[in-house]
Amino acid sequence: MRYEIRHIESIDSTNTALKRAAKDGAPSGTVLVADRQTAGRGRLGRSFYSPAGSGLYVSILLRPAFIVSPAALTCMSAVALADVIRSYGRECSIKWVNDIYCNDKKAAGILTEGTVLSDGSFAYAVVGIGVNLSLPPNVPSELEPILSAVFDTPTDLAFRDAFLHRLLERFAFYWDRLPDLSFWETYNALQNCFGRRVSFLDGNRVETGVATGIDRAFRLIVQTEYGSVALERGEVTFL
Ligand code: BTN
Repeated sequence: MRYEIRHIESIDSTNTALKRAAKDGAPSGTVLVADRQTAGRGRLGRSFYSPAGSGLYVSILLRPAFIVSPAALTCMSAVALADVIRSYGRECSIKWVNDIYCNDKKAAGILTEGTVLSDGSFAYAVVGIGVNLSLPPNVPSELEPILSAVFDTPTDLAFRDAFLHRLLERFAFYWDRLPDLSFWETYNALQNCFGRRVSFLDGNRVETGVATGIDRAFRLIVQTEYGSVALERGEVTFL
């Protein structure tokens, strides 16, 4: 993996900008990192709070030469990020499918987007990673109960860049081994939902059950009163 890193102070969303660059022919390995995002996006149409001075907001453009699922790319990125967080001696866990938890609350998220061709391969993929390195001073009150950070003390841009370099190194480690998916073991070992009661949406119906495992396609297995289901997308809520 060869990276070409671009820095920008402020942008709507690094994922949106990198998708535009992909359509204009930017090469695999292009990385866009912003000091802040004015319209950071999360999964399921949510926004991702991205103030200046406390977070890492980065997107990586990939043009895989082999078939790899969006879920595998997301989970690979989650493991790379968890490796880096743990390399600083900090604890973290993964909440299927794309959230990193520190102190029982979300500290980071991953958004994989792209264009998939008819044979199932990606024309391009953009993996966006947002990390609350430290807690910003004025967290909006509605986010306070659900948001945490990797570190307890303030972090500056030099620290952010050092963290980013570790992350890109770890990301390349797993990327260079694809389509080998042996990071599945770590992804599985770091899950925080096994044995817990969860709810999820099945169409418009709210279902409940106990999360029991992750299969090799990175689907979450939930044991409901009707039997076992394998969730491919969406999310679960802890009950
Ligand atoms: C989620 O929590 O559902 C995913 C959050 C992903 C946020 C990152 S920050 C960098 C990139 N740009 C975006 O607009 N989103 C991702």
